[in-house]
Amino acid sequence: MKDPRRILLVVSGGIAAYKTPEIVRGLRRAGHDVRCALSTEASRFVAPLSLQAVSGNSVRQDLFDPGEEGEIDHIGLADWADVVLVAPCTANLMAKMAHGHADDLVTAVLLATRAPILVAPAMNVNMWEHPATRANLEILGTRGIHFVGPEAGELACGWEGQGRMSDPAVLVEAVDSLLAPKTLIGECVLVTAGGTVEPIDAVRAITNRSSGKMGFAIAAEAQRRGADVVLIAGVTNLPTPIGVRRVDVGSAIEMRDAVFVEFEQSSIVIKAAAVADFRPAEAIERKIKKEELAGEGRLQLEFVQNPDILADISARKGDRTIVGFAAESHDVIAGAKRKLLLKGCDLMVANDISRIDSGFDVDENAVHFVWPSGEVEALSLLPKSGVSRELFDRIEKLRAPQ
Ligand SMILES: Cc1cc2nc3c(=O)[nH]c(=O)nc-3n(C[C@H](O)[C@H](O)[C@H](O)COP(=O)(O)O)c2cc1C
Repeated sequence: MKDPRRILLVVSGGIAAYKTPEIVRGLRRAGHDVRCALSTEASRFVAPLSLQAVSGNSVRQDLFDPGEEGEIDHIGLADWADVVLVAPCTANLMAKMAHGHADDLVTAVLLATRAPILVAPAMNVNMWEHPATRANLEILGTRGIHFVGPEAGELACGWEGQGRMSDPAVLVEAVDSLLAPKTLIGECVLVTAGGTVEPIDAVRAITNRSSGKMGFAIAAEAQRRGADVVLIAGVTNLPTPIGVRRVDVGSAIEMRDAVFVEFEQSSIVIKAAAVADFRPAEAIERKIKKEELAGEGRLQLEFVQNPDILADISARKGDRTIVGFAAESHDVIAGAKRKLLLKGCDLMVANDISRIDSGFDVDENAVHFVWPSGEVEALSLLPKSGVSRELFDRIEKLRAPQ
């Protein structure tokens, strides 16, 4: 478990405040110590007692209450926090923050704190799009305030559009991301993830069981460490990690083209996608009808080889660090060693997809790191986020000046 960090959750008076106990629970599950400060209006939407119970700490609401101020004064609270999360942040509170107000507990704390501030706005779409709110957003952005959301969707007021507060899990992830040491600043990380889709005809395609979870976890970890990250994603339903630029592709050829576009400016390339080795020789534009199938109800397809993206980019490696993934169902290590030598990358991550607790479409992975020296490192079964951390710890060592 990592060191607990002190998170101050500032809650203002928006309807999304009813989700704040879930945010507190998520932050505590992530190992953090949490205190809550509420605006006067916030307590109309969430009971302070609920937040006190889930945080395990008394809740502050009133700047001028001698009892509350005696327990932990507002400057003490501002200094206590390692990160301040404002969720939900109303249009009103954004305006007050932008103009330096300090006429109640939460604005005074937000003005006094030296901790990074992460704001999760939540409001009606027209309030969000109003020029006054846009101007406040810009002011706060230039002052280094971090934002997460709002998301688009159905709003509590009945309108559709941007204005929903990001989900509690996303906010917890954003806090963790802010706390992570920024060891990859200046690096441009290119990650590929998910399976490719190779069309047979207008409706049918060949794909594979890759979920994309490993590559998405790698992209999220790179972003957390301060890198600029582009994620080239094949088929997957996963949400884009915060702060990551995503390019969606279908076939292996599309993935190769997208990789070539991004490759020039990248310094670290991690190819975690499951790219089809073969594709149907010709993709038929219309749908093949059942009656057209020859004789005994057999359909014969001819396949041609897809480009080998990893080999192509490794040949133009330069100063880059390039990592490949080898998903194998048997002879895992031997296969990964062979692939590493053939392609010429810096590290091969061998993935045993025959295990049911690891590999494709699960949240954990037991991998081996296979090095050009022939050394093989076996990692225990870890969440994919843990595998990503181990991977970047090694990549950082490789890239450290010798
Ligand atoms: C039912 C209801 C829901 C509200 N929801 C929001 C909201 O989601 N976002 C927002 O910016 N304001 C919302 N408001 C308006 C704020 O409560 C109002 O601007 C208040 O002064 C905010 O105070 P605070 O920023 O000090 O917490 C809502 C008001 C009501 C009556």
